[in-house]
Amino acid sequence: MGGLTNNNGINSQPDEEGEGCMEMVESESLVIRKRSGAYLTWEKLEVVVLSSDGFQSILSGINGYAKPGEIVAIMGPSGCGKSTLLDSLAGQLASNTRNTGQILINGRKLRRTYGTMAYMTQEQALTWTLTVKETIYYSAELQLPKWMPKSEKRERADRTIREMGLQDTVNTRIGGWGVKGLSGGQKRRVSICIQLLTHPKLLLLDEPTSGLDSAASYYVMNQIVKLTRQYNMTVVTAIHQPSTRIFRLFNNLCLLSLGKTIYFGPAFAANQVLLILS
Ligand SMILES: Nc1ncnc2c1ncn2[C@@H]1O[C@H](COP(=O)(O)OP(=O)(O)O)[C@@H](O)[C@H]1O
Ligand SMILES: [Mg+2]
Repeated sequence: MGGLTNNNGINSQPDEEGEGCMEMVESESLVIRKRSGAYLTWEKLEVVVLSSDGFQSILSGINGYAKPGEIVAIMGPSGCGKSTLLDSLAGQLASNTRNTGQILINGRKLRRTYGTMAYMTQEQALTWTLTVKETIYYSAELQLPKWMPKSEKRERADRTIREMGLQDTVNTRIGGWGVKGLSGGQKRRVSICIQLLTHPKLLLLDEPTSGLDSAASYYVMNQIVKLTRQYNMTVVTAIHQPSTRIFRLFNNLCLLSLGKTIYFGPAFAANQVLLILS
């Protein structure tokens, strides 16, 4: 196990699917790897919390899928199990919980190799005193594999900074708690930027727009949509009360209520289906 381990505990070894699945594409003077995508499925997912007097169900009988180049939005009221579903898909459930069911990527069990998956939790912490550039460069150093030359890591970091529209803020400190720095939207973009550094096939996001106004939320989600298509990523995101404009960006909707799926299907059809169901 010679590789680095990133903040998701994913080993930084080359992708097990191998270079054979990759198509080399020239872009912006950089050679990038256009990889085969990750088709994610989850079936009969159950999660229970263990306690001294037995266990309590948080998720039950959850089914769904996410396709490369598409975004699935997980929606539902607070406490319905959105974060638990993402934790489960990421293999990062809390120690007092147990899950059953099947989570597969391209028909096989998730293997946590470099570039497979990135997960942005809701509470991702950033260091206030660092600038955007320092934050992304250090993350690139930690997350990208040992075999990658430093110059390539820098290039990847600069490119990701541009992709998230952060190029004008590179020398601004993150800030917080009375220290002047980035806006809420810019901080979210830095957090997403960190997750994008490894060009993950599967990106899981927990409420990337929480606390942002509608313009900042749209900007963040729109960038994610563009990158999802560009890198053929599979994206699953929990989102709370999106605007109509943002909702239109989603391909599929997974609507949860009290730990159960009440709708899974095309986002555009959700209105009619829910109307019929009610
Ligand atoms: N590790 C845990 N221990 C105890 N209860 C938990 C744990 N994780 C989640 N829960 C409970 O499960 C329910 C769903 O939580 P969560 O997935 O965070 O909901 P959401 O993200 O939709 O707001 C909540 O009632 C929450 O309190
Ligand atoms: Mg949550």
